[in-house]
Amino acid sequence: MACFFRRTIAHQLSKMCGQYEDVFIPLICAVPVSKKQSMGDLRVSVNSLVQNGAVLPHEDLQRNTETLAKQIKHNSVVEDVIAAPGMIYFRLNKLMLAQKVLKQLQSEPDTFGLKSELLTHLHGGRTLVEFSSPNVAKKFHAGHLRSTFIGNFIANVKKAVGKEVIRVNYLGDWGMQFGLLGAGFERFGCQQKLKVQALQHLFEVSRCFCHAVTRLFSFNSPSSVQVYVQVNREAEHDGNVRVAAADFFRRLEQKEHHALSLWKQLMEITVKEYKRIYERLGVHFDHFSGESFYHSQTKNVLEDLKSRGLLKTTQKGTTVFDLSDAGDLSSYATLARSDGTSLYITRDIAAALDRHQRFGFDEMIYVTDKSQSVHFQQLFHILSAMGHQWANSCVHVAFGRVQGMSTRRGDVIFLEDVLDEARTQMLNNMRESRTSKALEDPEETAERIGISAVVIQDFKGPLISDYRFEWDTVLQAQGDTGVFLQYTHARLRSLLNRFGDEKKCGDLSPLTDNRSVSILQHLLRYDEILLQSATDLQPRHLVNFLMTLCHLVSSAHRELPVKGSSLEVAQARLCLFSAARSLLANGMRILGITPVDKM
Ligand code: ARG
Repeated sequence: MACFFRRTIAHQLSKMCGQYEDVFIPLICAVPVSKKQSMGDLRVSVNSLVQNGAVLPHEDLQRNTETLAKQIKHNSVVEDVIAAPGMIYFRLNKLMLAQKVLKQLQSEPDTFGLKSELLTHLHGGRTLVEFSSPNVAKKFHAGHLRSTFIGNFIANVKKAVGKEVIRVNYLGDWGMQFGLLGAGFERFGCQQKLKVQALQHLFEVSRCFCHAVTRLFSFNSPSSVQVYVQVNREAEHDGNVRVAAADFFRRLEQKEHHALSLWKQLMEITVKEYKRIYERLGVHFDHFSGESFYHSQTKNVLEDLKSRGLLKTTQKGTTVFDLSDAGDLSSYATLARSDGTSLYITRDIAAALDRHQRFGFDEMIYVTDKSQSVHFQQLFHILSAMGHQWANSCVHVAFGRVQGMSTRRGDVIFLEDVLDEARTQMLNNMRESRTSKALEDPEETAERIGISAVVIQDFKGPLISDYRFEWDTVLQAQGDTGVFLQYTHARLRSLLNRFGDEKKCGDLSPLTDNRSVSILQHLLRYDEILLQSATDLQPRHLVNFLMTLCHLVSSAHRELPVKGSSLEVAQARLCLFSAARSLLANGMRILGITPVDKM
């Protein structure tokens, strides 16, 4: 496939320019398929050859390009070499293109593209991806949902290109909100409700507690989550609540038996509940940890920093790390309050140190919304100042806000609401559409398609951009949606079920028409796309690639019929469709989507 062709061209260029073949490999790119007839299948820019020292710079770039193109010999693989402005195009033998690509996809459908030479430098090493990380007993907002999707994608793509991946969920399970929750639960908690709707109940308890204290409101009154949220704002300043919460939190920090065991119980239930929901999403974690775990280690962190002379005390009595160049505290990070208690960033330092020691990662990736960018810059800066070189391999992947992600119950509070909404709406759409097949488990299918739709909407643009979420556009079957990807996959499946999924490619000469060639040319790009996504960690490259594949497949459905064609033509086309389906499914799985076979 692409490697074979790149190697053949690199071999020629190497002979011509007197450089190692490997220099040329990453410079040879598959030409993106477009409506215009393309000049070739692969190309190399002359500037890139100059930049890599393969050819000497020449004042007249065009003459340089033409001279080079003329020197390259044609052979049975490369049938033509064409000089375009600043670019040399290579036209491949189309039968060979079909044979190499399809045979490879047939023999190794799951790993197609992954063994490409373009990706070898990414193989090996251990990547820790920390993502999702919701706050217990607080709102699971759209930001956590984005972090869940994006982190899952990053973990998948890293794994695909050959890394050992450790997936960590760092729960916000410590701090004053726990004081609120614990104190509230001691008064209003209900074990029964905890069993039925744990997350909702815990959320309500902490909200309700605020309300109860301010207004002597009874927990059993009719209520809605929105009411709690609203009254909570009023109650936040209420002294009684704060005293009770602080009291519980102090008991917790002092490891008082009852407080600690209640906290443990609530945490266990919460994690169990989250795991169930993550399972619905097809997302798993290797480790659940949380801020609570690192709280006790912050003392050592502070001592370590102190011994290195990296701490200062402010007039207010807080302990800070000076981030300013001039050493004048014009910019700093607070690491301990005046009463000695730790902060979010202190716990993060402890967590990073512990993870490095425990997992020996080669890179660590944090996925949160962009409001935390400064926090992570400071964190990496401090780790580096502590002498940890590996801080340079820590990355923060920041993403933008989602507006308007709400369900019938109001703004997103529980992850489950989004999943239920996606499923219900999709189920309605499926019932209305006459093309829907009779499904054994329509709910399950609707759920998978609904999730795909939400994921694709999220992955379409640059991650850093904010976007507006609208159920109507998200769930459309037309346009570049997750539903369209699923629909194309299901359609290919049904075609292959009907006429047979060709397990062996026979004569592929019927695949030299423009339609078939476009698909083959497109498949040739897959490894470049993976490289791009694994490098800048942006899923949109893969999303765009799969969308184009689906558009090409849908034209091919019309123009390359299987039914009514001669056996030889039908078999060759089935082989092409089968290859397209495998690759589509592989790409979808990397994005975190489970392909459906019927819809
Ligand atoms: N729980 C945090 C929040 O919801 C996100 C945690 C991000 N990870 C970290 N290591 N700080 O804002």
